[in-house]
This record gives sequence, C-alpha cells and structure tokens, in this order.
Amino acid sequence: MTNADFEKIVDTSDEWIVSRTGIRERRIADSDTHCSDMSVIASRQALEMAGCSSKEIDLIVVATVTPDYRLPSTACVVQEKLGLPNATGFDVAAACAGFINGLSLVGSLVETGRYKKALVIGTEKLSAFTNYRDRNTCVLFGDAAGAVVVTAQEGESGIVSTFLKSDGRMREMLWAEVGGTVNPYTTDYTYDGRDKIMMNGSDVFKVAVREMCRAAEKVLAEAGISSEEVALVVPHQANIRIIEALAKRLKLGMDKFYINIDRYGNTSSASVPLALDQANRDGVIKSGDYVLMAAFGGGLVWGSALVRW
Ligand code: ACO
Repeated sequence: MTNADFEKIVDTSDEWIVSRTGIRERRIADSDTHCSDMSVIASRQALEMAGCSSKEIDLIVVATVTPDYRLPSTACVVQEKLGLPNATGFDVAAACAGFINGLSLVGSLVETGRYKKALVIGTEKLSAFTNYRDRNTCVLFGDAAGAVVVTAQEGESGIVSTFLKSDGRMREMLWAEVGGTVNPYTTDYTYDGRDKIMMNGSDVFKVAVREMCRAAEKVLAEAGISSEEVALVVPHQANIRIIEALAKRLKLGMDKFYINIDRYGNTSSASVPLALDQANRDGVIKSGDYVLMAAFGGGLVWGSALVRW
C-alpha cells in the first residue's frame, strides 16, 4: 500500500508521511494470510540458511501482538504448519520489542544447555488491528515476518549482551482498549476504533528516543564495546526521525544504520528480524561484526541486543 493509496482514504499526503515518518510503502497481507503463514515462509528461509532440519528444532518462540487466535499460541500453529515434531513453543507479546525479548529469552535458555536449536520469529499482521479511518496511525503500519535460528556452539560469535525494560504505567499511550476481558467485544457496541491500535504518537516518540538510546548504551557498556566498534545498527523501524535521533545520540553516522522503513513501515515484532535478514542477505554483515539491535513499543516496552556475527 503506497502513500498515494492513503491519500484516497484519509486526509493525508505523501509529503507529510515521508517527511514525518520516512515511510513510502508498506506490505498488507491478504485475508487468507496470517501471522503463522508469514512465519512459515520466514522460518523455512532461516532453516535453509542455517543448514538446519526441522527435526533439529527443539524450541520455537513467536513474538507477536497480532496472533492467529486468542488460543492456542501462534507458536503452536507454526509448529504444525512447519512440521517441527521435536519442539515446544510459546508466544511472547512485547509489541515492537517482541523479537528482542524473544531473542534474549531464547539465548538464555540455549545457554543453559536445556535447548539446542531454537527458532525465534517476529511476525505481525497489524493491518487487522489498524483503524483505516485514523490518519494518526493507519499510515504507519505494515505486515511482515522475520525469523532466526539460535544454536549453541563454541566460538566468539553469539549474543553478547541484552537489555529489556518495560513501564506499564504508560500503557495507554499505545494500546487497543477493546477486545480483552476488561472491555470484551459485544454484539451491540460501537467500538469507534477502540478495538484497533490507538496511539499518542508525540508522547510515544519522546519516550522512544530516550529509552532506545539508553537501552543501546546499556548493552554496549555491559559488553565493554564503544559505539564506534559497532559495524551495523539494526533499529526498530518505527520512524526515520527516531532512528536519526538514535544515531545522533550514539554519535554514529546514518551509514551505520540499516533502514528499510521506506518500503515496509512499522511492522512491530517483525521489524528487527526483517531488517536483520535483509542486511545479512545484502552482504552488509560480515563474520565477527558487532551488530546492535534496539526496539521500542506498546507496553511501553523497550530493549536492545548486541550480537557478534
Ligand atoms: N497526515 C497528515 N497529518 C497528520 C497525519 C497524517 N497521516 N497524522 C497526524 N497528522 C497531523 C496531526 O493531526 C497533527 O495535526 P494538528 O497539529 O492539527 O493536531 C499534526 O499532524 C502533528 O501531529 P503529531 O502527532 O505531533 O506528529 P508527529 O510529528 O509526532 O508525528 C508520528 C506523528 C509519526 C506518529 C510520530 O509521533 C511517531 O512516529 N511516534 C512514535 C511511534 C512509535 O514509535 N510507536 C512505537 C511502536 S508501535 C507498536 O508498538 C505497535
């Protein structure tokens, strides 16, 4: 869906969207394609790249806030569709920071030796929870999935440090009010968009800049790495201006940041693994590189991860 498509449905313009967000296009899944379907495509590509058979996977963690069903978890649906006979799986709901939460959790579980080969997936069908009458939010979101395989192995490469944080006091800055047990769906109620994503964008923006920077600084300090030693930053793609602020704060040029927001918009949990995969397939990441990821989303929740490729 292009910015021109949005000009036809809400009072907006390509100029406003590009200058305020950096977004030009986003991908919208059709009605028969759900988070599990996008996850299966991404996971097959990840398994192939890792040279890993589906039988070897013993853990599957799906980060999403737009699951196929309320019950069961999307991880279980993906397990069945992919055919992972030896795995257990569950979902992680941490909005745009979901993938980094999943990666951090899985890294710890693999480190203990309890699990050997895990799939971590970030997947969202945000179009199903977007109010296409609200110009404040509808131009921002897209659908996508990304996946990585995490394995235990000797050597320098791996997850170096992670940082996770949430602050539920700010949960109403970015939420879907209707649809849970507090405000269940009813048959005679007009939701007026309250069952879709609602966001106070400018308030979220300020916290996002501050906390994503702090999270990035924390993982670098914990690892004893300076920002100049980072080869590539893969930030959550919510707004190009947030990414520019992060670059300025970390004293890094924008050439160190992988950007694909122009083509995909904000894909929440899928954003970081999608960009990471594209950077990898583009040959941007080399063996031994330090790659820094940072994300921020509804909860509010944020986090970062430093990995050695
Ligand atoms: N087209 C034209 N005008 C618009 C649009 C639009 N699509 N959207 C908002 N505006 C208007 C507003 O109505 C407002 O008009 P007013 O001054 O007459 O009231 C004006 O533009 C400015 O609005 P702001 O909200 O101050 O605009 P801002 O510069 O903050 O940009 C944005 C809005 C893009 C949402 C920005 O605040 C942002 O990116 N916030 C952070 C989003 C984020 O990181 N979310 C976290 C992840 S999402 C998740 O977890 C699912």
